[in-house]
This record gives sequence, C-alpha cells and structure tokens, in this order.
Amino acid sequence: MSTAKKEYKKVTTNSLVEMKQRGERIAMLTAYDYSMARLVDQSGIDVILVGDSASNVMAGHETTLPITLDHMIYHASSVIRGVDRALVVVDLPFGSYQGNAKEALSSAIRIMKESGGHAVKLEGGKEVVSTIERIVSSGIPVMGHLGLTPQSIYKFGTYAVRAKEEQEAAQLLADAKALEEAGCFAVVLEKIPAQLAKLVSESISIPTIGIGAGADVDGQVLVLHDMLGMNTEFSPRFLRRYLNLAEQIPAAIGAYVQDVKSRDFPNDQESY
Ligand code: KIV
Repeated sequence: MSTAKKEYKKVTTNSLVEMKQRGERIAMLTAYDYSMARLVDQSGIDVILVGDSASNVMAGHETTLPITLDHMIYHASSVIRGVDRALVVVDLPFGSYQGNAKEALSSAIRIMKESGGHAVKLEGGKEVVSTIERIVSSGIPVMGHLGLTPQSIYKFGTYAVRAKEEQEAAQLLADAKALEEAGCFAVVLEKIPAQLAKLVSESISIPTIGIGAGADVDGQVLVLHDMLGMNTEFSPRFLRRYLNLAEQIPAAIGAYVQDVKSRDFPNDQESY
C-alpha cells in the first residue's frame, strides 16, 4: 500500500470561513468541463463554481434561464472528475428551487448525489431563506448570491449595477444578514457599489465573494472564459483579461489549416 502523502489540503466550507478570519483572500473561478477544471484546480484556485453561466458561455444562450438541472449535473460531474483540491460549488438553475423548499431540496440532493459536487449556490435574499434553511438542515452547504442576480434579469430589465439607491442597499444588507442566519457558508455579491460590498463584508462573519463589487470583499470570482479573453463582445468594467484567447486560438487553428493545406503537416517525425 502506498504511504505517499498528498501535498495539498482540500478546501472546505470551513477553510473559507477561516480564510476570512485571517484576512486571506479567496480566489474563485467558474469551470464547466473536465479538462478546464483540471487546469484550474492545478493552478491553485480555492473554489470552482459550476455556474449557470454555462448557459451563456457553453451553450450560447443569451441568458442563464434555459439551462436545466440535468445540464448542470452533466457539467458538474465532468468538473468533479478533474478536481482534487478545490471546493466545487454548483449553481441550482432557474426553475429548480423557486417553487418551494421541498422542490429545492430535491434539486440540491440530485446535484450532490449525481454530480459529486460539494455545495450548491442559489440566488436571492429573504424570499429564499426558508429554502436555504431546508437545504442546509439536510447537510448540504449553500452559497448565497445577491446584487445582480442573472436569473431575475427579466425582472430587472438590465445588467446595470444594483443597489445604488439607499433603499435597495439597505435591503441588500438585510438580505446578507438573513442569508448568514439561514446557514449560508458564503455569499456572492455581484455588480454592486464597492462601498456597499465593504459594509456587507464587515457586517457578516461568512465570506463575501465579489464580482464587480470592488476590492473590499473576502474573495473574487470571474467567469473563466471571460478572464481568458475568449469573448471580445463582453467587456464590463470589472473584467480583467489575463489572456487573449479570442486572438490566440484562431491564430493557432489558422496555422494548423495552413500546414494541412500546404502538406507541411504531418512531417516524417509525426508519421509512423
Ligand atoms: O453563473 C455564474 O458564473 C455566476 C458567477 C458570475 C458568480 O453565478
């Protein structure tokens, strides 16, 4: 029997709370498939989100609404097979939890059983508190999501910054406290003013993970395809691109096409 010890320590929901307590920032990215999840995990990410943004970046839909529970389970089980260290959080898709707490629990159980994910995420404030309590009481960790909640895009009518007005900001702060009380282990704050995100982060003991929420949150999340520069059309102010794959991939493919056409590929060393 091998006695070789693994060098890494798996990230858990408790590790995230400890990271907040010692002021260590949490790095989170999305992934939707095995190969990318493997690379993301090997690069030292703390949390991988199998986001319902798969509906946009993997399937080409305009919104996150069309993706189904079965699709999410497929993506999440592919991701899980590529991950050794990171905590894997899976989005509950639109329509799988809003009806009632019982339906939400059975959706969350399907995700945990059929994909092997470690936690679920759902959108909303006080209106989803009883749902969160039900899921958490069955032993499934829940991450909340406040601010711009893309599953409600047709209610908002726009992807603009949320909670700029005093009343909505006060509601968001109250919602964050309610999510903490309901048992969430962390909460995503999407596209809200940095000052409000700071206030929320200081007011709750669970970690806040920001996307377009400034620097004074406990962690950051970006959509993998956006930060790798696979999409030139989507350019929100909060996005930092670390690669320009929208140029690099077509250049590589163009070179391959050229090599095939010119009979340069394969050469003798590449043949049997
Ligand atoms: O689905 C997703 O990618 C998300 C992040 C933007 C937080 O919810």
